[in-house]
Amino acid sequence: MYRAWLAGTGASLPEKVLTNHDLEGMVDTSDEWIVQRTGIRERRIVQEGEVTSDLAIAASRQALEAAGIQPEDLGAVIVGTVTPDKVCPSAAVFVQNALGAVNACAFDLNAACTGFVYSIAVGSSFIQTGLCEHVLVIGAEALSRFVNYSDRNSCILFGDGAGAAVLSRQKDGEDSHIIDSQLFADGGARDLIQIPAGGAALPASPETVEARQHCLSMNGREVFKFATKAMVDLINTSLERNGFKYEDLDIIVPHQVNSRIIDTALKKVDVPKEKIFINLDKYGNTSAASVPIALREAVEEGRIQKGNLVLFVAFGAGMTWGYNLLRW
Ligand SMILES: CC(C)(COP(=O)(O)OP(=O)(O)OC[C@H]1O[C@@H](n2cnc3c(N)ncnc32)[C@H](O)[C@@H]1OP(=O)(O)O)[C@@H](O)C(=O)NCCC(=O)NCCS
Repeated sequence: MYRAWLAGTGASLPEKVLTNHDLEGMVDTSDEWIVQRTGIRERRIVQEGEVTSDLAIAASRQALEAAGIQPEDLGAVIVGTVTPDKVCPSAAVFVQNALGAVNACAFDLNAACTGFVYSIAVGSSFIQTGLCEHVLVIGAEALSRFVNYSDRNSCILFGDGAGAAVLSRQKDGEDSHIIDSQLFADGGARDLIQIPAGGAALPASPETVEARQHCLSMNGREVFKFATKAMVDLINTSLERNGFKYEDLDIIVPHQVNSRIIDTALKKVDVPKEKIFINLDKYGNTSAASVPIALREAVEEGRIQKGNLVLFVAFGAGMTWGYNLLRW
């Protein structure tokens, strides 16, 4: 078995900003309510003509440059997304083609907000087994295309963006590597967050459009409870399974869900808030893109240093949840 390591990161955000004050003009809400209940102040959204793969491609170019890898070296392109450009084909083939990753297979992975963490686990297993030497892993979303901007429970939460990482076979003499990943799912809770129409169960019709069933719907309170428990369980499981203690962790890059969920979870584990990287005030919840966008910022700000023990945790629709534990 080979080891995989994370060789480079990238991120791309749309230029257009949607602030809480902008939302005050769209639904019955206030900047104060949103900041107090979620920690979010603004989010980015795509403009007309801009699509998920545009963001994914820009983030990928940065990640490839940071890793010093050419597109032809890639064996796989995996895009974690629930908002691909089209239902078919995948967003990944748009990325593969634009980059000129002529030797790569390409596919999307739908695990909602856990999409990037799932993709890292899948991509690193391709490297561990020798199937690929380099894998491009992306989290990319244009959620604003699926948000119901008349539903104040959900429209305040979500934003668009993309983040990417290059996974490579570990070099001789290097210690940086992905230590462990664990992935979980509970389809019994599949109705908590969903886009009801547009699939085989409820194909598009005038009625589904009229009822806004192509938009995301969510049971906020139940998701809140689920997410808090998932975050606590993921931190504890990742440490226990690998023989580490809370104090061994240098940084956690969590799914940027809601500052209250993160704060509530932190009360149940012995990890100080300074060890959690948070940027959700600027971008909201960007689903599969949130961990890699935060990761890129953490790297750029020097918050992650060589030798650090780094944990990614994420949870979302499905329900799905999972972690990646890395020696940086
Ligand atoms: C959605 C969420 C922010 C709502 O916050 P909350 O504190 O649970 O609020 P509640 O649902 O209990 O609603 C409290 C009140 O605020 C109101 N409210 C809901 N959204 C509001 C908004 N945007 N502005 C003002 N008031 C709002 C509700 O209607 C309710 O009013 P009522 O008491 O008169 O019925 C919160 O449940 C949440 O973040 N859940 C997780 C969602 C999530 O992260 N999903 C993605 C997971 S990957």
